[in-house]
Amino acid sequence: MSLQKIVEIIGEPFFSNEFVAIYNLDCKEGLQRMIDHKLKVNSTITSPPYNIGKEYERPLTVNQYVDWLSQISDLLYQITKNNGSYLLNLGYLKIENQARALPIPYLIWDRIKFYLQQEIVWNYGAGVACKNYLSPRNEKILWYVKNIEEYTFNLDAIRDPDVKYPNSKKNGKLRANTLGKNPSDVWQIAKVTTGANRSSEERTDHPAQFPEDLVQRMVLGFTNELDIILDPFLGSGTTATVAMKNKRYCIGFEINKDYCKIATDRIKELELSIAVKSAILF
Ligand SMILES: C[S@@+](CC[C@H](N)C(=O)[O-])C[C@H]1O[C@@H](n2cnc3c(N)ncnc32)[C@H](O)[C@@H]1O
Repeated sequence: MSLQKIVEIIGEPFFSNEFVAIYNLDCKEGLQRMIDHKLKVNSTITSPPYNIGKEYERPLTVNQYVDWLSQISDLLYQITKNNGSYLLNLGYLKIENQARALPIPYLIWDRIKFYLQQEIVWNYGAGVACKNYLSPRNEKILWYVKNIEEYTFNLDAIRDPDVKYPNSKKNGKLRANTLGKNPSDVWQIAKVTTGANRSSEERTDHPAQFPEDLVQRMVLGFTNELDIILDPFLGSGTTATVAMKNKRYCIGFEINKDYCKIATDRIKELELSIAVKSAILF
């Protein structure tokens, strides 16, 4: 089914174009509409709230938070095609008298119906410098699949060209793959930075934007061209931006209207740069 058909069925989007549909909706409501109409997507790529007091969060107890995220993951399971995947970016949260920074995957990983294929460590170089404990420099991405016999994994699309001995040979044949090495389960990708003279080019006014390079690796590695990707917590629209750049469709739910506007402006800017590029080529 085409994205436009899906868009008509889900309801009035905040914004849509050929590749992207943004809904100003609580994702539970959006996902229920999809279930009611038997609409399915190939993959979900998302970074939910971590329940750490950010301005876009509704404070929950740890148990309530885990229940909420596992309920949403159940709905996602229902709208995922049989060969689809769920890429869930998670950080840390505090548990009073127990943990200052507990990795959220410890709480949630087995409350999700999908099959946990792998945990990816996202390692970023810069961040806060701490005095009383180690400076945090990683978050996780849980890579879940629905069907362990059949799932999308495009290794060649995400190979790392930084090979130590590219010309090393065995029996006259190159040892290393000429496209590069497996990027491993530790991904070194810079965070989106803020601040005078150091702000990333892609930085928007959203307080928790994830980097396009991180999403790009997930999009290329775990989805195919013309797949439909869902981001139930769209924020500033990073997933939609990267999907569109790579000829994938994206449906995004975002509860906050101001963030829907940021995501829409970002997509419109991309539309403009694509139009300019094709005019130059013509
Ligand atoms: C961690 S941010 C996502 C940031 C996003 N990955 C980006 O690159 O900008 C989580 C987002 O989820 C949104 N959100 C929170 N609860 C929601 C809900 N129930 N339904 C839809 N969006 C929600 C918040 O407003 C926030 O923008």
